[in-house]
Amino acid sequence: MTFPIEAVRQQFPSLSTTDGGQRRIYFDNAAGTQVPRQTIDRIVDFFHRYNSNTGVFNPTSVEVDALYDDAVRSMADFLGTNDPGEVLIGANMTTLTYQLARSLAHRFEPGDEIIITRMEHEGNVSPWLQMAEDNGLIVKWLEFDRDAWRVEPALLEPLLSERTRLLALNYASNLTGGVNDVKALTKMAQDAGAIVYVDAVQYASHRLIDVKELGCDFLACSPYKFYGPHLGVVYGKRERLESLRAYKLRCASNDLPFRFSLGTPAFELIAGLMGTLEYFQWLAAETGCSGDRRQLFEGAYAEMGAHEDALSEQLLAGLVAMPGLTMRGANTLTHRVATFSFTHDRHPASAIARQLSDKGLYCHWGDNYAFEVAKALDLDPQEGVLRLGLGHYNTTDEVAEALKLIEGVLAA
Ligand SMILES: Cc1ncc(COP(=O)(O)O)c(C=O)c1O
Repeated sequence: MTFPIEAVRQQFPSLSTTDGGQRRIYFDNAAGTQVPRQTIDRIVDFFHRYNSNTGVFNPTSVEVDALYDDAVRSMADFLGTNDPGEVLIGANMTTLTYQLARSLAHRFEPGDEIIITRMEHEGNVSPWLQMAEDNGLIVKWLEFDRDAWRVEPALLEPLLSERTRLLALNYASNLTGGVNDVKALTKMAQDAGAIVYVDAVQYASHRLIDVKELGCDFLACSPYKFYGPHLGVVYGKRERLESLRAYKLRCASNDLPFRFSLGTPAFELIAGLMGTLEYFQWLAAETGCSGDRRQLFEGAYAEMGAHEDALSEQLLAGLVAMPGLTMRGANTLTHRVATFSFTHDRHPASAIARQLSDKGLYCHWGDNYAFEVAKALDLDPQEGVLRLGLGHYNTTDEVAEALKLIEGVLAA
């Protein structure tokens, strides 16, 4: 069955929005995706029908309790755990990671070691650097391989010791698109006695995650990168979450997942997240998949991934042929997601981005908070890269048009 691109695009109202009559080509998905009408409708419905706080007998409050319960169950299916208590919902990945770093610090002694990869977004760097500074921990950096564009297990091996306590590990880079073998790296680190904290923010919009298969201790993602509202979600192994000191109000629940839920959640956005997860189920049905909720997520992601791969091939083939352009990531689809960055030998990234944006090609530039990656690649600190992030609602026509626009800008 061919990918139902027209039906997909009809689900996303913003795709047909124009800027003064000029169409938009959304290639800025690595920074945040558009949302389907299921997400929008759920948020509007929340405010129309059951805007309320939780825990009392009003019908609206009962509905909000059920919504939260449904959301953590659905997200558990989405992430690959059958324990909704392992799903923490918060403001965004960065806030949740700072919160957990504060709790995890209690497990470590001065002189203990933590390992951070050079592939990380700052969201999986600064919280650990500051934790290390506050607690006298030693930080070791795990480089990525410049040909494979990912961390090779052989590079991790020499860094592990009996003092290793934590590995902060990127699933997919938001600058290079490189994908790590999280399962193998996790096993190595855990065998050495370390806790593994995975940043799957960039990965989650492209491939379905399976936390139990990966075996990691924690994994963070952000629904606004996978067609949902601005929220963060962290999976944590129950035994880890139960044994951690939770920074929480004394009278707040001690049960999981609530003991890590600070203050009143953004219920309307959680309703929106349910809409996004329903959208994936709609897409699965539309492409002929059936089964339980997890199987529907698998089906939807398989379809989205195959469509994105075709677009990626087309985009890569066009980009690598352009004179003066250097890809900052793999030239092939092996071990990568559809996030593409490049620099040019004559045009600064900001100038390219401005011209493309003026022509309706939405894109990003700079270090994109992949601060260590940008330094490791010796990029101009003011300019960084020009970044194009594809999503499953993009089309082959958009890629062809984008290539023409980029070619025109670079030829000047
Ligand atoms: C790989 C990666 N990690 C972490 C983050 C931070 O996520 P959040 O905005 O939810 O804090 C981003 C955002 O761009 C990202 O791309």
